Amino acid sequence: MKRTLGTCYYPEHWPEEIWEADARRMAESGLTWVRVGEFAWSRLEPSSGDLQFDWLDRAIEVLGRAGLKVVLGTPTATPPRWVLDKHPDMLALDNEGRPRGFGSRRHYCFSHEGYREESDRIVHLFAERYGKNPYVAAWQTDNEYGCHDTTLSYSDAARTAFRTWLKNRYGSVEALNRSWGNVFWSMEYASFDEIDLPNLTVTEPNPSHMLAFRRFSSDQVASFNKRQVEIIRAHSKAPIGHNFMGRITEFDHFKVGDDLDIATWDSYPLGFLEDRVGAETTHQRFYARQGDPDFQAFHHDLYRAVGKGRWWVMEQQPGPVNWAPYNPAPLPGMMRLWAWEAFAHGAEAVCYFRWRQAPFAQEQMHAGMLRPDNADAPALHAARQVASELRDAPEVRVRQAPVALIFDYDADFAWATQPHGAGLTYFQLVFDAYRALRKLGLSIDIVRAQTRDFSGYSIVAAPGLIYMPQDLKRALSETEAHVVLGPRTAARNADMVIPVPLPPDMPNLDVTVSCVESIRPDMPMPLKDGGSFVGYREELEGSAEIVVELEDGQPAAMRAGNLTYVGGWCDETTWTRLFRDLCDQAGIETTQLSGGVRCRDAGGVRIWTNYGTQAADTPAGRIEAAGVLFQAL
Ligand code: GAL
Repeated sequence: MKRTLGTCYYPEHWPEEIWEADARRMAESGLTWVRVGEFAWSRLEPSSGDLQFDWLDRAIEVLGRAGLKVVLGTPTATPPRWVLDKHPDMLALDNEGRPRGFGSRRHYCFSHEGYREESDRIVHLFAERYGKNPYVAAWQTDNEYGCHDTTLSYSDAARTAFRTWLKNRYGSVEALNRSWGNVFWSMEYASFDEIDLPNLTVTEPNPSHMLAFRRFSSDQVASFNKRQVEIIRAHSKAPIGHNFMGRITEFDHFKVGDDLDIATWDSYPLGFLEDRVGAETTHQRFYARQGDPDFQAFHHDLYRAVGKGRWWVMEQQPGPVNWAPYNPAPLPGMMRLWAWEAFAHGAEAVCYFRWRQAPFAQEQMHAGMLRPDNADAPALHAARQVASELRDAPEVRVRQAPVALIFDYDADFAWATQPHGAGLTYFQLVFDAYRALRKLGLSIDIVRAQTRDFSGYSIVAAPGLIYMPQDLKRALSETEAHVVLGPRTAARNADMVIPVPLPPDMPNLDVTVSCVESIRPDMPMPLKDGGSFVGYREELEGSAEIVVELEDGQPAAMRAGNLTYVGGWCDETTWTRLFRDLCDQAGIETTQLSGGVRCRDAGGVRIWTNYGTQAADTPAGRIEAAGVLFQAL
C-alpha cells in the first residue's frame, strides 16, 4: 500500500490570493492530503440560513487542482454564536451544574436534540454540496469527540435522554432498583422520571448509577456520530473517519469506529508526555523532546483496531504546541521518526497539524509547517524528507502479531467509577502491560473485548476487565493461546455488583479472589525472585498452581492450563517476568530492549526507532539518537 502525507489547512484564516501558492507548496513538498472545513461554520453560515459556501467551493477547487486530495471536516465542533442564541440550553453542564460556555470550542451537549438537528442540517448541506466533488476524497466527522472533557454532560437534555436510555435497558424501575441494589440507603425509585444524573449528591453516588451514566454518555457520542455518517454516506462514496485523541477514554471508540471506514488520531508526543502519559518526572525530563517511547505506538495499535485495519494520523505534532504544561521543541529527527513509527504500525497517512502557524487566537504559540511569515518551519523539512524516503521505502504491511492485548472502554468506565485506590486507572494498567510487552521486542495487536476468536495468537493479555461476559470467559479458557488475567477480572457483574460465586469464576481455573486491598504507592509489596505489586493487591485461594509468590509466601499469580491469574498491580519487572516466561513457553523469541529503543514488525521488515538521546546498538546494527533503522526479515 502507498503511504502518504498531508496537512491541515484553514483557508478561512488566510487571504484568498495566497491559497494557490500554498496549494502548490504543499504538493511540491510531497503532501497528498489536505484537511479543511472542520472549524469554518461561522464563515459558511454567518447567520441562520445565510449560506456562503462559495469560498469553500473555490478553496477545494484550488487545492484539488494542485493535485491534493481533500479531507472535508464537518464543522460541528464549533457552532457559531447564533446557534447558541437559538438554543440557549444546548451547552453541556459540568458536574457542578455550571454551563461550559461559548468562546472556545466543543460547546455543546451530545444529548441536546435541537443541536443534533442543527448538526444534521449543516452536515446535509456539506454532503449534498461536496458528496460528488472529485477532489473530496475523504471525510471527517466533527473534531475530537470528548476532547476538553466534553463527553459527560449534566444538562437537562442529558437527564431526559438518560431516563429513556435506562427505560430501554431495564424495562421496569423495579428491575433497575434490584440490579443497582437501591434498597441500600433507601435509594429506591418509584418511576424512571425520578432518576437524576449522578452529580451533586452528598457523598458518592451508587456506582451502578454512575456506570450506567457513563455508558449512556458514551452511547450519546456514538449516536451523534452515526447521524453524521449516515447523512454523508447517502451522498458520497468517499471513506469517512473521525480524529480521535490520545488517552481519551470517556466514550467507546470501538462503537464509534463501527460506523466509520477509517479511524484517525491526533498524535502530539511531547504534549502527551507532559499531560497524559502519567510518567515520573525523571522520565518526563529524559523524553521531553522525544515523547514517551510507547505512548504513540499504543495508540497506533489501538486505532488500527478501532478502524478495523484502516487508520491514519490526522494531526502530527509539528513543533512546540501551546496546550501542555511545558511545550518544548522536538529533537531534530523526531518528526521523521514519529511518521515512520506510524507507518510501521500500518498508518495509511500521516498529516501534520497545521500548515501555517496562526498569529492570532488560542493557538498562536502552536507551530505549523510554515512560520506565520511564510518561511519553512522544521516540520516542513521533516515532511519533505519522509516524502522522499517514501518513494523508495520497503513495502510496509502489518500482519497479525503474536500477542493480543484486550482494551475495553467499558472496563475503563468501571475503574473510573470505582478506582478503589488513588491513581488506579484501567488505562494505566493496560498501558503498563503494553510497555512491558513492547520492551521485550514484541509486536502487539490491540483487540476489543468483543473478540471471541483468538486463533493465531500465542499470548492474550486481558488485564483489568472488571466485567467479563460468560462467552468471553469461555473463549479465553478454550483458546490455544496463553491468557493473562487479573487484577479485578470479572470482579463485577454487568451492573457493577460483586458476583457470587466470587471472581474471577473462570472455567478451568480454580482461583478465587477472597479479599482485595488498595495500598499506598510508597508501600510496594515485594515478590519472591524480584518485582512487586504496587497500589493494589488481591488475596487468592484455590488449587491452581502458584507461579509467583509474595515475599511472605502468599500466592501472587496462579495458573491452570492456558490461564494465568495475576492478583495485583504489577510493576514493570513483574509484567516482564510473566510475559517472558510465557513467551519462552510459547516459543516466541524476545529481545529485552532498554532506553528508548523499540521495534515493530511490518511484513518483511522490522522497523527500529530510537527515542533516546544517544546512539544505541540493536541486533540489527547501530541506531542513531532519534533515528529509524530498517531491518529486512
Ligand atoms: C488538536 C485539535 C486541533 C488543534 C490541535 C493543537 O487537539 O484537533 O484542532 O487544536 O489539537 O495541538
